[in-house]
Amino acid sequence: MSDTVSYSTQGVIGLIKVNNPPVNALCQSVRAGLKESVENLLADDSVKAIVLICEGRTFIAGADINEFATGMGEPGLVPVIGTMETAAKPIVAAIHGTALGGGLEVALGCHYRVALPTALVGLPEVNLGLLPGAGGTQRLPRLVGAEAALELIVGGGHVPAAQAKALGIIDDIVKGDLLEAGIAYAEKLLADGKGPRAIRDITPETVDSAIFDNYEAGIARKQRGFLAPFHIINCIRAAFELPFDEGMAREQELFDELMASSESAAQRHIFFAEREVAKVPGLPKDTAKRDIKTAAIIGAGTMGGGIAMNFANAGIPVKLLELKQEFLDKGLATIRGNYENTAKKGRITQADVETRMALIEPTTSYDDIKGVDIVIEAVFENMDVKKEVFKTLDGVCKQGAILATNTSTLDVDEIASVTQRPQDVIGMHFFSPANVMRLLENVRGEKTADDVIATVMSLSKRIGKIGALVGVCDGFVGNRMLHARTRESAFLVEEGATPEQIDKVLFDYGFPMGPFTMADMAGLDVGYKVREERRKAGKIEQRDSVWIDKIVEMGRHGQKTNAGIYLYEDGRTPIPDPVVKDLIAQCAKDAGIEQRQISDQEILERCMYPMINEGALILEEGIAARPLDIDIIWINGYGFPAYKGGPMFWADQIGLKNIYDAYKKYALQFGEHYWQPAPLLEKLVKEGKGFYDL
Ligand code: 3HC
Ligand code: NAI
Repeated sequence: MSDTVSYSTQGVIGLIKVNNPPVNALCQSVRAGLKESVENLLADDSVKAIVLICEGRTFIAGADINEFATGMGEPGLVPVIGTMETAAKPIVAAIHGTALGGGLEVALGCHYRVALPTALVGLPEVNLGLLPGAGGTQRLPRLVGAEAALELIVGGGHVPAAQAKALGIIDDIVKGDLLEAGIAYAEKLLADGKGPRAIRDITPETVDSAIFDNYEAGIARKQRGFLAPFHIINCIRAAFELPFDEGMAREQELFDELMASSESAAQRHIFFAEREVAKVPGLPKDTAKRDIKTAAIIGAGTMGGGIAMNFANAGIPVKLLELKQEFLDKGLATIRGNYENTAKKGRITQADVETRMALIEPTTSYDDIKGVDIVIEAVFENMDVKKEVFKTLDGVCKQGAILATNTSTLDVDEIASVTQRPQDVIGMHFFSPANVMRLLENVRGEKTADDVIATVMSLSKRIGKIGALVGVCDGFVGNRMLHARTRESAFLVEEGATPEQIDKVLFDYGFPMGPFTMADMAGLDVGYKVREERRKAGKIEQRDSVWIDKIVEMGRHGQKTNAGIYLYEDGRTPIPDPVVKDLIAQCAKDAGIEQRQISDQEILERCMYPMINEGALILEEGIAARPLDIDIIWINGYGFPAYKGGPMFWADQIGLKNIYDAYKKYALQFGEHYWQPAPLLEKLVKEGKGFYDL
């Protein structure tokens, strides 16, 4: 008998229990165990109905994703579910936790479904670049109709029990002990003379095929580059246009196609990387964490306000400290405005708005924050100002409080050095808007204590973020790599590529927008100030392209001034501007550069490869511990296309040797200064390995 599935009888009810921690994934032994249990209970004449239930924290949460890489042994899930659906005795699925993917498909193969009020169901395969491959695209539409099926399967969300009941996915919501409730439900079925009921026998309603065309057109932009959403629409269409078995065959064919695709491989990589990123190499799993019950944020500006919202959203009381009452009032008004907007969209209630606002306590006195467990500083990006703040914090905060800085460019160690407790100081680099962006680069200082790192990594998840641990360096991981791309894209323009050509190449690669559209949106003056500071500090670039600075000096700061690299007639649509074209040509001439036609391939290589080379340096220096940390940062902080798996994963896919060879080629053309391959890249190429072989 399977070691993950057992069966027994209780009176006339046969019980099947799945026990495969942590999430009862449908590995080979679970599939085999389900089949054998059903067959044995069907053969037992004393059994009149069957209840399927799971041990532990959840119902079956899906196929075992680990098996996708190794191949799935027999029996396949489709025939197992077929055995259940065609059984001559009624089978009831009793659901708690999450019935997801293959788990919900198993439940749909049962004849009845009951669930606890807290249960969630869903077909989230789309997030792995897949589609439900065990009948989900054929059975769910027969229960909920075409429109709801499209929303559920293409959306891939989790549906709460009450909504699932309203949609007809589950038959009843039960309370109390699930096993007892499941058995009672089965006994009542028998008493009422109700037998098996197969979804495959439901004749789907007739639908207008325009539903599918319209839905596809509606998601085309958002889902650009992903394969799975479009294959799913195709399958759901088949559910309405083909007999059940032919629909199943279509589903299988498209599932296999997705399983073999690079898009799904990348998305599955991200699934595990997102879980792995929280586990810090070298930090014992049982490292004690400090208790975080209260927080304080210093500075209620753009970032401080957003950071405070994250704490309030997680139910953690947070004090917001500013220099003056008027700055606090302004910051609080912005926060309230954000919450009100979310409430207007129906994502939270008005009561939620008030509860969250009540958790944010404004103050102008450091006395009010001396008892908090963590402080996050988000004042101006100026070392002297930050040092003052940290000296004050060191003087007032209780011992053991974590002192974090949200600096995006300054040295965390230098900030820590003004305190008597550098072990308690850490960087928490949020991304703007801080209440929306999921990424959090947690910056470990030279002296940051292990328990501070462990606490902040776990706090990241608590406040809804994906925390990636990085070390101290200029720009940390994300901005440091971005800098390499920014530099090269500016050179390319000087050499004759247009901003719109470069933006298109990177948009087509999969980024939500190209670097110049992004720069205009962020405001060109921001980068200008940074470059001014660098020049003042004597940090001279070997090659300096000045055309963007000249644009800024014309008062064109980007979208906010209706003109930057592009012109904005309606405030947001970038239009190439002949004035800028002439300015660029003049700058090139002044620099003695002869402009030429530049191919899209050259643009792609010169924008992407320096980022990857920088990533290799980052790994070598130990700024990021693993390539997956870098991938997670780029996917969650910079709009890197998920279906490419992150820059380091993508680099492995295209082959490091190609990148190395391109570096050599460009070194001959432009000199070695910017085209020196990282030693790690060179080493991996020599060994025929990729970053993920490290
Ligand atoms: N297969 C293998 N391992 C899985 C898994 C799965 N389907 N789902 C979760 N795990 C593992 C995680 O990797 C993690 O392992 P770790 O502890 O070693 O890091 C562990 O289970 C716990 O997972 P989480 O940390 O994510 O736990 P949470 O409690 O936060 O979330 C969950 C639980 C909501 C079930 C979440 O894990 C989840 O969303 N899982 C994936 C669900 C899914 O996508 N199912 C569809 C799979 S594809 C499929 O079914 C194809 C079918 O149609 C043929
Ligand atoms: P901001 O200018 O919007 O806000 C700073 C706030 O700090 C102001 O409200 C100011 O009154 C307050 N402040 C200044 N000195 C103070 C002091 N001594 N005590 C208390 N409050 C003080 O700046 P922003 O954009 O919010 O940036 C804050 C920090 O976040 C900076 O370190 C910045 O580098 C970092 N950051 C900014 C990002 C962005 O996109 N804006 C992204 C990631 C990090």
